[in-house]
Amino acid sequence: MRKRKFSRSSSLFKRVRRAIPLASQTFSKSHLQYIQGQAPLFITRGKGAYVWDVDGNKYLDLVNALLPIVLGYQYPRVDKAIKAQLKKGILFSLASPLEYKLAEKLTRLIPAAEMVRFGKNGSDATAGAVRLARAITKRDHILACGYHGWQDWYIGLNPRNAGVPDAVKNLVHRFEYNNIKSLRALFRRYKGKVAGVIMEPMSVEEPRGDFLQDVKKLAHKEGALLIFDEIVTGFRFALGGAEEYFGVVPDLACFGKSMANGMPISVVVGKEKHMKHMEDIFFSFTFGGECLSLAAALATIEEIEKKRVIPHLWRIGRMLKEGTHELLEKHGLHDFIELKGLPPWHIVAIRPAAGFSDLEIKSFIQREMLQRGVLWTGSHNMSFSHGEKEVRMVLNAYDKTFRALQDALRFRTLRSGLGGKPIQGNYNVRAV
Ligand SMILES: Cc1ncc(COP(=O)(O)O)c(C=O)c1O
Repeated sequence: MRKRKFSRSSSLFKRVRRAIPLASQTFSKSHLQYIQGQAPLFITRGKGAYVWDVDGNKYLDLVNALLPIVLGYQYPRVDKAIKAQLKKGILFSLASPLEYKLAEKLTRLIPAAEMVRFGKNGSDATAGAVRLARAITKRDHILACGYHGWQDWYIGLNPRNAGVPDAVKNLVHRFEYNNIKSLRALFRRYKGKVAGVIMEPMSVEEPRGDFLQDVKKLAHKEGALLIFDEIVTGFRFALGGAEEYFGVVPDLACFGKSMANGMPISVVVGKEKHMKHMEDIFFSFTFGGECLSLAAALATIEEIEKKRVIPHLWRIGRMLKEGTHELLEKHGLHDFIELKGLPPWHIVAIRPAAGFSDLEIKSFIQREMLQRGVLWTGSHNMSFSHGEKEVRMVLNAYDKTFRALQDALRFRTLRSGLGGKPIQGNYNVRAV
């Protein structure tokens, strides 16, 4: 195996960090998620399932830009739609009919969607839905379960919450997934004050029994709105998101990430009786309705429908999930490494073992996977460009990586052999 070098990534990182704090725009794409000096930090291009870094190394990408790349990089049909729109213009001084075309499609596909409003980031959609729930109910408190973006209303629940006023932090409270009692306790504590319950309908844990139905019933009994954050589950679990997959329809829902194969667009959807109050609140921005993203979303969703992309994500994801699990068993690692989540998006969950921390073990796996040509941060973000060949390639890399891990644990060389500072944690505190 030719040893991959990251010298350009490392030197560029030093320069970029002088101009850009973090040297990235996103925590999960930054050096904090990669083993220091042993990983690429900048990508120059992507095609299909593969990306190339600034040192010229090629990788099979399991990250897919944190999930938006649902079809693949430079996907012909989507790129063609973007180029065709580019010839007409990017952004106009009035609304474009494309907004209506996409809105009609979404109202046809998503169970909760009778009306829709677009944003750019997932955080626009969740912040808009929360503001709407507050405006409709004339209440202030929000009960949340999952990760919902970078805005003040939510970030009080995240350990990295400097800069958020206490008055705002005190209005949001976390309940536990699959623990209806934790939600009930919060409703008791903030009786008559809760505007909405916002949750990822599923993150990496599956709903037990009637958990989602029970949340909906309880929220409605207490006069609060139920908001599903489908930023991850949307256009992956089913065309209509987790609400279609689990058969529980919320009052409002937020979609983003996978809806435009990488172009920046998100959407708040909901029942007409709620969404019409969007006209009363402030939800408005210069780049709302930007046309390249609308055209990309239409092409992406049409392609997902036509090519039966979602069954593919399930099938190929299941192959990878099951194959990885078999290899963990083969190498005796399954006691502390397991796969959690559903096939279209699942994670490799690691617990500390043999005196090494979870992040040290994760760093070791990452270094070995990168050396074998897989861009890896501990999740399997499946795309339509991942075929059986790609799954075989990942499993082959895991087989060798797990064997090396087994040795590093047995001979206690894991820490000394890392070759760089380990990964420094994840800032998206999820529903686990
Ligand atoms: C479930 C969920 N909600 C909301 C967001 C925020 O989306 P964005 O980063 O596009 O603002 C994310 C981002 O990872 C997410 O995973």
